[in-house]
Amino acid sequence: MERTSAATASTVTMPLVCLTRVRKSFPLPDGAPLVAVNDVSLAIAAGTAIALTGPSGSGKSTLLHLIGAIERSDGGTIEVGGQEVTGLSGRGLAAYRRRVGFVFQRFHLLPTLTALDNVIAPLIPFRTDFDKVARAHELLATVGLADRAAALPSRLSGGQQQRVAIARALINQPALLLADEPTGNLDSQTGTAIVDLLLRLRDEQGTTVIMATHDTAIAARCDRTVQLRDGCLTS
Ligand SMILES: Nc1ncnc2c1ncn2[C@@H]1O[C@H](COP(=O)(O)OP(=O)(O)O)[C@@H](O)[C@H]1O
Ligand SMILES: [Mg+2]
Repeated sequence: MERTSAATASTVTMPLVCLTRVRKSFPLPDGAPLVAVNDVSLAIAAGTAIALTGPSGSGKSTLLHLIGAIERSDGGTIEVGGQEVTGLSGRGLAAYRRRVGFVFQRFHLLPTLTALDNVIAPLIPFRTDFDKVARAHELLATVGLADRAAALPSRLSGGQQQRVAIARALINQPALLLADEPTGNLDSQTGTAIVDLLLRLRDEQGTTVIMATHDTAIAARCDRTVQLRDGCLTS
């Protein structure tokens, strides 16, 4: 999966992400299956920003986890950049996960590492085509934190921690960035700045962004909204 430049993204008609009849259930304590994602088919064009909306429990996080191969689907196919994701295991799975950026609602930074080392942490091992420290500094500058590289997460505000998390998600130059309620723990002004940043990545780098959000104002800023209810797409 190669990064698509912003210039070519607008002319590419092939979807970057193609879901066909994807299903995922979890066993309830009584053994009955809870269907979290129910027969979802969806094609997402490269270089677009998609809002994934729906009430709590509608399957947004599960769907993002399936696309990012954090969880495995029970059925259907998930293709990203022409690669079938559902069948991956071992090294192929590890390599795929590193090529997709994931941003969580609760940031999930490693508390004992500086901002800089958090950004470097998921770097593909043995990659020698760029200087990792220089690149991490560059990414911190991109997210507006050039002067906070040496800070521990506990010394950063929530918005700053989420910026570090976004820089970390970008270290392996992903064509696809998945963000699970990235503004959910932030005040609205800080949240707006985080969405500005995600949309800037789409515009400047052609990154495809899929973000789960409750916020209709954020969804309205995306190229397209898809809505889930009880695991089913409703739009
Ligand atoms: N690991 C899990 N084990 C059991 N049930 C789960 C698990 N993850 C999610 N679920 C259930 O799947 C449904 C969808 O959850 P989720 O994808 O987290 O929704 P959303 O992100 O839209 O709030 C919910 O009913 C939730 O309780
Ligand atoms: Mg969720």
